[in-house]
Amino acid sequence: MKRIIVMMAVAWTISGYAQKLGVNTLDEVINAMTIEEKAHLLIGASNEGFSGEGATIGKTWNIVPGAAGTTVPNERLGIPATVLADGPAGLRIAPTRPNDSSTYYCTGFPVATMLAATWNPTLVESVGKAMGNEVLEYGCDVLLAPGMNIHRNPLCGRNFEYYSEDPFVAGKIAAAMVNGVQSNGVGTSIKHFAGNNQETLRTRNDARISQRALREIYLKPFEITVKESHPWTVMSSYNKINGTYTQEDYELLTTILRDEWGFKGIVMTDWTGTRNTAAQVHAGNDLMMPGNKEQIADILDKVKKGTLKESEVNICVKRILEYILQTPRFKGYKYSNKPDLKAHASITRNSAAEGMVLLKNDNETLPLQADLKNIALFGITSYSFIAGGTGSGDVNKAYVVDLQQGLENAGFGIQEKTKKVYEKFLAYENERLEEINIERGWYLGPLRPREPEMDNIFIKLRAKDSDVAIITIGRNSGEGNDRGIKDNFELSQTERELLTNVTREFHAQGKKVVVILNIGGVIETASWKYLPDAILLAWQAGQEAGNSVADALKGTTNPSGKLPMTFPLDYTDHPSSRNFPAGFVSNWDDEQNTTLLNKKDIGWTNYEEDIWVGYRYFNTYNKEVSYPFGYGLSYTTFQYSDIKVKTTASSIKVSVKVTNTGKVAGKEVAELYVTAPAGEVKKPSCELKGFAKTQLLEPGASEVLVMEVKSEDLASFNEAKSAWITDAGHYKALIGASINDIRQSTSFIISKPQVRKVHNVLKLQETMNRMK
Ligand code: BGC
Repeated sequence: MKRIIVMMAVAWTISGYAQKLGVNTLDEVINAMTIEEKAHLLIGASNEGFSGEGATIGKTWNIVPGAAGTTVPNERLGIPATVLADGPAGLRIAPTRPNDSSTYYCTGFPVATMLAATWNPTLVESVGKAMGNEVLEYGCDVLLAPGMNIHRNPLCGRNFEYYSEDPFVAGKIAAAMVNGVQSNGVGTSIKHFAGNNQETLRTRNDARISQRALREIYLKPFEITVKESHPWTVMSSYNKINGTYTQEDYELLTTILRDEWGFKGIVMTDWTGTRNTAAQVHAGNDLMMPGNKEQIADILDKVKKGTLKESEVNICVKRILEYILQTPRFKGYKYSNKPDLKAHASITRNSAAEGMVLLKNDNETLPLQADLKNIALFGITSYSFIAGGTGSGDVNKAYVVDLQQGLENAGFGIQEKTKKVYEKFLAYENERLEEINIERGWYLGPLRPREPEMDNIFIKLRAKDSDVAIITIGRNSGEGNDRGIKDNFELSQTERELLTNVTREFHAQGKKVVVILNIGGVIETASWKYLPDAILLAWQAGQEAGNSVADALKGTTNPSGKLPMTFPLDYTDHPSSRNFPAGFVSNWDDEQNTTLLNKKDIGWTNYEEDIWVGYRYFNTYNKEVSYPFGYGLSYTTFQYSDIKVKTTASSIKVSVKVTNTGKVAGKEVAELYVTAPAGEVKKPSCELKGFAKTQLLEPGASEVLVMEVKSEDLASFNEAKSAWITDAGHYKALIGASINDIRQSTSFIISKPQVRKVHNVLKLQETMNRMK
C-alpha cells in the first residue's frame, strides 16, 4: 500500500501532476516513513572498507564497484540506492571486477588546474559533458566534483584538483564543468565547501578567515557556481571555519548557501565519519557520508530524547527524496557500461592542447622542426608521464601516453642511448617501488621513481649526437598531504645539475634545450628559468598527455593556455606562507593528527593575509614575480585595439579587438581587470572581472571580444555594514594579455553607490593580525 503511495507520488512529481492536483505528494511519502527509515536515508550506505562492523546496510556500495559510496535504498517504499563516485579529473570506479572479464576503465581527463588554464568555459563544458556521460553509462548518479577551493598557497596537496587563486576564474570554470556534467541528467557535488585550502590536519583544522576574505575569495567560486549552474549537491568540507565544522554550520549551509544564494539541492558531508548528527541536520547538512550504524542510532536516540526535532529530519529527508527523484537510477536508466572511450580520449587530447602554457620561447625554439630523429629525452617523467594526481582525484584509466611515446607517435625519433638508460632505470625503480607503494596505501600517495644522476660525459656525448634536448620535470601530490618546499616546490639537487649540465653542453654545440613541466601545482622557476631556451608547462594532462605535449611541440596545436595562478620568485613571497603549515608531511592517520594537535600552534590556520591572495597581493604591493597571473605565450603574436565600454543601469560591457599579427594560427585569451575607486575598505589595485578567448585566428584575422560585468559584481565586501558595496566614482577597465601586460584601457563611471546587505554571519571568533 505504502509502496503504491511512493510510486504514485513519484510519478506525479516527475510529470508535474502533483502541482496540478495541489497535492504535496512528497510530504505524504514522508508521513508514510518510520523514523528508522528516515534516519537510514540521511546516513550513507557505508562500505566495510570505511566502517567495518559499522556498515549501515548490506552491499549497496557494490552496485558500482569502486564508487565512493551510495545512499541507502528502501525496498518497502520503492526508493533505490543512488551511487556517488569521484572525481574532478573523471569518473573513479574500479576498472576490473571479480569473475568478470569486462573492464570498466574511465577516461583520465586533464587535471582541474589545467582545465582552468584553458580559460575556455565552452571547452570545459564539453569536457564535463564527456565526463558526465561516463557517470551515466557506468551506472552512477553523482560525480563528486568539481573541486573549487582557492589556491591560497602553492603547497596545498590538492591544488591540482582545484582551479585557481582567483575566485572569478574558479567560479566560471566550475560552473561550466557542472553544466557539462549535469547535461547528462546526472548530478555533481561541488566541493569542498569551504575553506579546505590545506591537507595538513584537514579533518580537524580550523580555518580562521575574516568575513570579507570568505565573501570575496573563499565562498565566491561556490556562489558563482550555485547561481550559474545549479549543482544537484554540495559537499561540505572536513575542516572548521571560525570554530565550527562546516557540516555543522547553519550560517554556512542554510543562511548563506540556501537563503542568500538560493541553493535547492542537498548538502552531503565529505567522507568524515561520526560527528554531531543533530548539529548537522539542524545546519542543513542532509546526507552524512560515508555513513555508519552509530550515526543512525544517534539520530534515533536524539529524536526520542527530543534533542533533535523530527521536523528538522523531515526537511533533510524531503530534500534527499527530491534529489533521488532526479537520478538515472530512480528513473530506471539502462546504462550500457560502454561509454565511447575513444571519442572521450580525443576530447582529452584536444582539451589538454588548450591548457598548455608556453612560459618561455626564445628565438622561436618551439615548435620543433617536424623531422627531428634524434631528440635527447631527459627526465624520468618523460618516460613515466604523470597524467593526474593521487587519491580520490585519480582516475583508473586504461593507459597513459608518456612523452616518449607521444613524440614517437608524432613522427619524432628519440636518441636511443638516452632512452635505454632511462628505460632501464625506470624498470629498476618500478620493481623497487612496487611493494613499497602497496604498503604505503593511496592516502600517503605512491612514491614516484627517482631522477637518476646523469654522468657529465654521457651528457657531453649526447650533445654531440642529438638534435635537441628535452628535459621533463615532474611533480605529483594528492589528498591527505601537502607538498614540501625542499625537493618539491624547489628543484632537487639532481634536477638542478641535470638542467645546468645539459644546457651547458647542448649550448656549447649550438643546440637547444626545452623544459617540459609535468606538474599539478606551482614550483619555483626563478632560479633556473634562464637556462633552457623554451619552457612548456604541460601540467598533468590526462591519459593522452604525451600526445598532447607532442602536438604542441610539433606545432600541430598552438599553446593557448594562461596561468590561473601566480608563479612567485620564492615560496616565502606568498603572504600565506607565514601561516601555512609547511613541513608537516603526512597527516592522514589519526595517531599522527593527535600528535600534531598536541603541539602548540597546530590545529588552526589564521588566514592573516585576508583578501591578499595571489595576484591581489603581488600586484597591489608591486612585488616582482617569476610568471604573473594570466601569463602565457603563443607561437604567434596578438595585437589588441579598439577598446570600447558601454554602461547600462546594471552592467558594463567592454569590447576589444584582437588581431593575430604573427605567422601561424592561434587563440588568445583577453583578460578584463577593473580598478575600483577608493571606498571605505582598501581594495586591490585591480581585480579580474571578465575574460574571453578568441576562436582559432588565422594570421591577419581578428575578432571582437565582448565581456559583460554586472555592476553588483564590482562590489567589495564591507564587514562593518555586512554589505556588498559598489562604490560610486571612476572605474578603470584594463584589458591585458596577463595582469602585468595591460594592452588597452578605458574608464567608466558608476554614478550611484549600490549597497546589497547580507547576513552578518561567519564571524571571526579569534583575534588575529590581519594584513591591511
Ligand atoms: C575526499 C573527497 C572525496 C571523498 C570520496 C574524501 O576523502 O576529500 O574529495 O570525494 O573522499 O572519495
